[in-house]
Amino acid sequence: MTSERHSTRDQLIGADLLTLAMLSPARLASIFDLAAAVKADVRPYGESLRHKTAILIFEKPSLRTKVTFEVGIHRLGGTPIFLDQSASRLGERESIRDYGKNLERWCQFIVARVHSHRSLEELAEHARVPVINALSDRFHPCQALADLFTLRERLGSLEGVRLAFVGDGNNVCHSLMHAASLLGVDTTVVTPPGYAPAEDVTRECRGFAESSGATLNITHDTAAVEGHHAVYTDVWVSMGQADQAAKRRRAFEDFRVDAAMMRLASRGIGREALFMHCLPAQRGVEVTDEVIDSPSSVVYDQAANRLHVQNALMLRLLGAVGE
Ligand code: CP
Ligand code: NVA
Repeated sequence: MTSERHSTRDQLIGADLLTLAMLSPARLASIFDLAAAVKADVRPYGESLRHKTAILIFEKPSLRTKVTFEVGIHRLGGTPIFLDQSASRLGERESIRDYGKNLERWCQFIVARVHSHRSLEELAEHARVPVINALSDRFHPCQALADLFTLRERLGSLEGVRLAFVGDGNNVCHSLMHAASLLGVDTTVVTPPGYAPAEDVTRECRGFAESSGATLNITHDTAAVEGHHAVYTDVWVSMGQADQAAKRRRAFEDFRVDAAMMRLASRGIGREALFMHCLPAQRGVEVTDEVIDSPSSVVYDQAANRLHVQNALMLRLLGAVGE
């Protein structure tokens, strides 16, 4: 339901969540506060989505996103309907406009995982119900919400936190950059040449960082991870990129997160740096078993927190709780 009214960064009720760039830092903080409350005790919210139905459209595989949305909607009293869209892309059987015009008559919101971000924008444009991005080729906002929430939880606050992302400047990296720059978290992104984050996203994040007082360093030098509270990575070959696997493996070979990189990150921060990953991970490829299974790894906390931040997000978008 994209419109001028609904895309304002101060209005969440009835809005779409296609990218975190639409949220103000205060809105992000309010989602985190509600997520903490819902995580502590979901029972007061158990009827909040009563008589509300969500359609979950997935063009790609999923474990965490599918399960956390389904479990979350059930726990809030609503009904999720899963629509497996993996056999044909949105817009193939019928236009995305017609698809959205049908769905809006049966549900109160849509959660969609798509190949092309443009499909999400088109769906949001035509469906008069909120659309939540469950991952596109450009962004993964629900993941980044859980990631920054996890960092806040683990480190007590985001004040003075330094975050390093090592790997592909893709969807997960883009949303992480949005969340971090909005929330004032100093961020270093380290990618192989040719795999840096998109220029428009980088420009947008530099603007957010200027307002929040954060720094944003984009480099190809892995030595830049020194002195960071967390090191984050993602797969080198994302869903839909199988045809580029060999080329990507060669390009990313020196960007594996291993124990030596984690020691470098931990230098000067007075604690062990945390390891983060959105999952699924290719163990031994972008991260060693030693790192992902270490006590500093928070990957399962990130996965657990997907549930709580998404619950908070749904409650806010549907106006099911007071501000
Ligand atoms: N992190 C994440 O989105 O996982 P799934 O692809 O399993 O949903
Ligand atoms: N970058 C990965 C993230 C999966 C959660 C992908 O798009 O496949």
